[in-house]
Amino acid sequence: PAVEFGLDASFDVEYHDAVASTNDRARELATEGAADVVVLADRQTGGRGRRDREWSSPSGGIWASLVLRPDLPPARVPLLTLAAAVAVTDAAREAGVDAAIKWPNDVVVPDETSERGGRKLAGVLTEMEGEASRVSWVVVGMGVNANVDPADLEGEATSVRAEAGDVSRRVFVQRVLERFDDLRADPDGVLDAWRERAATLGQRVRVDLGDETVEGEAVDVTEHGALVVATDDGERVVHSGDCQHLRPA
Ligand code: BTN
Repeated sequence: PAVEFGLDASFDVEYHDAVASTNDRARELATEGAADVVVLADRQTGGRGRRDREWSSPSGGIWASLVLRPDLPPARVPLLTLAAAVAVTDAAREAGVDAAIKWPNDVVVPDETSERGGRKLAGVLTEMEGEASRVSWVVVGMGVNANVDPADLEGEATSVRAEAGDVSRRVFVQRVLERFDDLRADPDGVLDAWRERAATLGQRVRVDLGDETVEGEAVDVTEHGALVVATDDGERVVHSGDCQHLRPA
């Protein structure tokens, strides 16, 4: 279905029926010097999530990775992850799904009865290479459970199909790319857009950092994409790379 992905966007498109991981393919392109390419696949045979988890990627989902060469210091690269979460949330809402962002980069359908506070619709996996002062390339991978059945996915997941019915993946991807393009042109506006869509802010949360647990009210996100938690002992800033799980407390 390459035609289904005939896009009009400021990204070149590389489409695969099947690939191990669009992030891996995007990394190859990035090291060859590519920029502003989106790698899309109908299915992935080795999809990767955060923290080396597997990411179920059956046919019908949106498995997409952007190759970027942003003019940003490495410390601000997390803004691109937040921008991707905002873009996916907006496209999902347009498709009729009640989507919100769960820190750090999950798009969920909020659900009080779920242990994790929501059923996961999409996730973002950002990888980069560069030096302390300069980014060489960034790959932003987005996995959206679009036209797939939740039974075919791991964990407490949902899909656009389950929430609102099947979507045109071409329209969905087009909206994500347009929105992302607007947001990357205005990195300072990303945080406010993220805050407006965040299910996590204002919630009492328990963040599992592996060797300790931080509990309190999630009050804000920093410009580096870290979560500010007001605990009984004062404010703590938790970084996404350290977070194993975040649950409602
Ligand atoms: C997460 O929530 O753990 C992040 C999931 C990211 C999945 C996407 S699907 C497209 C791209 N290719 C991958 O192998 N992973 C990302």
